[in-house]
Amino acid sequence: MRLVLLGPPGAGKGTQAQRLVAKWGIVQLSTGDMLRAAVAAGSPLGLEAKAIMDRGELVPDRLVIELIDARLDGADAAKGFILDGFPRTVAQAEALDALLEAKRMRLDAVIELVVDEPMLLKRVENRIRETLQAGGSVRADDNPETLKTRLDAYRKQTAPVSAHYAGKGALKQLDGMAPIEEVSRAVDGALAS
Ligand code: AP5
Repeated sequence: MRLVLLGPPGAGKGTQAQRLVAKWGIVQLSTGDMLRAAVAAGSPLGLEAKAIMDRGELVPDRLVIELIDARLDGADAAKGFILDGFPRTVAQAEALDALLEAKRMRLDAVIELVVDEPMLLKRVENRIRETLQAGGSVRADDNPETLKTRLDAYRKQTAPVSAHYAGKGALKQLDGMAPIEEVSRAVDGALAS
């Protein structure tokens, strides 16, 4: 199973990806997680990405395309993968098409979780509260001010990615406003059809 999960910040991509990892035994390839790991490690990639991520903007396409290119060849991706947070621009989607073709791989599904902006803000505020209550550290980009920039980047740069896949007849849009279990059932249904 090879799939792409699309959706704005806080739509539930990571939540659904983790569930699919458990169900299908495939790997979650989250460019956000990879970039945060690079920032934590202080690698050259992390140093380049940190300020951009903290502002809520998208890092340059070439950085994430290189990350994904390397990970698609990993042994852990041999059984399949869930791309979470990639592609996020039309240029990334086109690069992914070329990478998959070169690697003789095909996507089984592209699923978009559709959630309105007031709900996204509520979810991010909830996540901040829960993280603090658990004694964890809140992501540098998880605050209402930076969320505005992340949503702006989503509207301008990522929303057109849906049209890229719709044009190929590959896009399945699901209601991401429903409770987690209900969204999971809808994802399962979309993958079965
Ligand atoms: P990234 O880490 O990808 O963050 P994001 O897309 O902004 O998404 P989130 O992780 O905030 O949300 P999510 O959709 O995974 O929702 P979640 O399941 O956590 O990217 C961070 C940054 O990295 C970007 O801004 C950019 O700078 C950079 N970056 C990453 N990829 C890039 C790329 N390809 N190109 C360029 N730059 C890139 O859920 C959110 C909360 O809601 C949780 O608390 C969850 O429990 C809750 N929740 C989930 N589903 C439901 C539900 N159905 N009902 C109620 N609550 C729910």
